[in-house]
Amino acid sequence: MQYVPVYIDDLPEVDPFPFVLFSTMNGRFFPMLDHGQALDMAKRLQLKQNDQIWAYLAPEDFSGYLRLLYGQNTQDRHISRLRYLHDYFFPVEGVSLRVGTLFPCHLFTLNDQLEPSLILASHLRALSNQIEPELQEIYPLWIHRNDITAYEGYLHQCWSATANEKELNLEGGILLRMNACRVTYDLFRNEEVPQAVEAAKKVVQRLCLAILHNPHNYYSLLKVSDLWFNTFIHSVNVAVLSMGVGLELALDPATLQLLGLGGLLHDIGNIYLDPNLLLSSTRFNEETRKQFQGHVTHGEAFCQRYPEIPEEVTHIVAQHHERYDGSGYSQGLRGIDLDPLGQIVGLMEIYDALTNRQPFRRAYSPFQAYGHIINMGKAIQQNLLRTAIIATGKQNRYLQSAKQVTTTALTPLPQLPTL
Ligand SMILES: [Fe+2]
Ligand SMILES: [Fe+2]
Repeated sequence: MQYVPVYIDDLPEVDPFPFVLFSTMNGRFFPMLDHGQALDMAKRLQLKQNDQIWAYLAPEDFSGYLRLLYGQNTQDRHISRLRYLHDYFFPVEGVSLRVGTLFPCHLFTLNDQLEPSLILASHLRALSNQIEPELQEIYPLWIHRNDITAYEGYLHQCWSATANEKELNLEGGILLRMNACRVTYDLFRNEEVPQAVEAAKKVVQRLCLAILHNPHNYYSLLKVSDLWFNTFIHSVNVAVLSMGVGLELALDPATLQLLGLGGLLHDIGNIYLDPNLLLSSTRFNEETRKQFQGHVTHGEAFCQRYPEIPEEVTHIVAQHHERYDGSGYSQGLRGIDLDPLGQIVGLMEIYDALTNRQPFRRAYSPFQAYGHIINMGKAIQQNLLRTAIIATGKQNRYLQSAKQVTTTALTPLPQLPTL
């Protein structure tokens, strides 16, 4: 039987706790909290003895546990599982694991029921079968959100072992991308926003430096988000893609960073939408589309609330769904009334969405994606489209010669302006 791991601190306060909680020792499971017992502070502390921070549920109790967390509103089994992952777990990249190294946190994969299942307990050495490419593609790897700092330390350690501060190699690229995902994750959790915005600015500055130094790094900073609901991976991709287009347009470093921050924040308004709407795998109807479109005005209001966010970035967020012919939302602006940076982010967001898997369709190749975008006709400014094709075309050429692209010494660059 495959028990489902739950972090003890995540367990909700309910008395009595309606499920049996199991603990594990030497691969065997035994009950640590009986059905109907109170899960009070004393019991919690007792459960956490010997550094046991994970408990386990019988698989048949997992759906009930999710109902306990989210109430009865989420009837859809698939959505409640996605919400659980989204709220409590953070995706990690299989390629970041080094065979034979000690991994500092519990590592999970998803079974076909979208339940987290443990594949590597913390402080065990990673084996090659835990990081098989097929496994990564089908069921990406996850850690608990409380372990993000430990994972970051691990990446840093792997990176330090192979590079010095002046190099951005494969590990450095992963670390930088992970930092960017992490700050975006923090932004989307809507906690301590001013600090998260400052952290985002720093990360964007580093992304910008890496791309300016060597445009090949453009590719290595992108990530395919196999599970479509990873809004923050999408945000990082859009940031990097937009900066790549900005580089092709020879924009100055300060403007590139505005594009980067705009990319990270473009969908921040999603945090005010009903999560069930975002995680639903059905196409929108008229009503749900209207609700979804609200993310733009929510996002604009979010940006206006924080003086740390530059005004140019607020414009990007407010206009990333406007279209050149006026067919976009939320104001229906057109032509020269449009913010050029908002148009770049808007185009790259379409490109990233098309080239990643969505709940109702597979991922398109870059070629097919541009076919769709070209079919949008006058909605997209043609000069901008040409530039984007050139910029991402270069990126895709690098993609073919993958692995080697990132190993370049970073010569010191002049200090970049701070946003
Ligand atoms: Fe959006
Ligand atoms: Fe988006």
